[in-house]
Amino acid sequence: MTKKYFIAGNWKMNFSPAQAESFAEKLVEKIPRDTISEVVIAPHFLSLQKIADITKSSSIKLSAQNAYHRDEGAFTGEISANMLKNIAKYVILGHSERRHIFSEDNKLISQKVDAVIRSGMKPILCVGETLLERRNNETSRVLHDQVSSGLRGLTSQEVAKTVIAYEPVWAIGTGDIAKPDQVASAIAKIRGNISALYGLDVADKCRILYGGSATASTAGGYLLIEGVDGLLIGGASLKLSSFSQIVATADKLTQQNEA
Ligand code: PGA
Repeated sequence: MTKKYFIAGNWKMNFSPAQAESFAEKLVEKIPRDTISEVVIAPHFLSLQKIADITKSSSIKLSAQNAYHRDEGAFTGEISANMLKNIAKYVILGHSERRHIFSEDNKLISQKVDAVIRSGMKPILCVGETLLERRNNETSRVLHDQVSSGLRGLTSQEVAKTVIAYEPVWAIGTGDIAKPDQVASAIAKIRGNISALYGLDVADKCRILYGGSATASTAGGYLLIEGVDGLLIGGASLKLSSFSQIVATADKLTQQNEA
């Protein structure tokens, strides 16, 4: 059976609540209800509940952009996985902006992955090397550390449900293009790490996305790379035409694969 592509838009800290909600309304009209791909958007916390109502009877699913690992308590400014569980299906964790701007380390990210799984949602765990790490030939080690620590303590079943996004830090929001062989090799490494820990079957079931400056014109090429199960899109998900075009491309490729 051909896997459905997973196309996720990470809106980051963009759009006012009114803009986010109006964008979501337009997206509901634009993305066909019978879309083949799994389409996910990650708006900021302020609009999540409202957008959950807007997308309720559409094919679009929701992700949060972050969550705290404790269920409740004196954690000023944080939102727990428990608070999100009836609103979103996924939570993006370990995004490079969280790792590098907000100093989140592998241990904290692993606790957050646990909390998201415990709450019944699914994590979209982001991993990826910086430019310096790539230049120092540390890509394999970094991916291994981020994957093994991010998934630590999970059962095979939980890992199989986890989505992993390979996002080389140097390609995020920079317009720098990761070459197909770089993406294929990193994704093979990630799948190899999962396979070594949980077996081939689990590694195969786990969806692994690529993310980093993907656009409507490069999406098709990335989706055709061996091992790529979908895309995590930042900038290009903020434009109606480019995001819907990426979804249409993914659907078309699935139909071609099935034919
Ligand atoms: P970008 O962001 O597509 O703007 O590079 C991707 C991401 O950060 O998930």
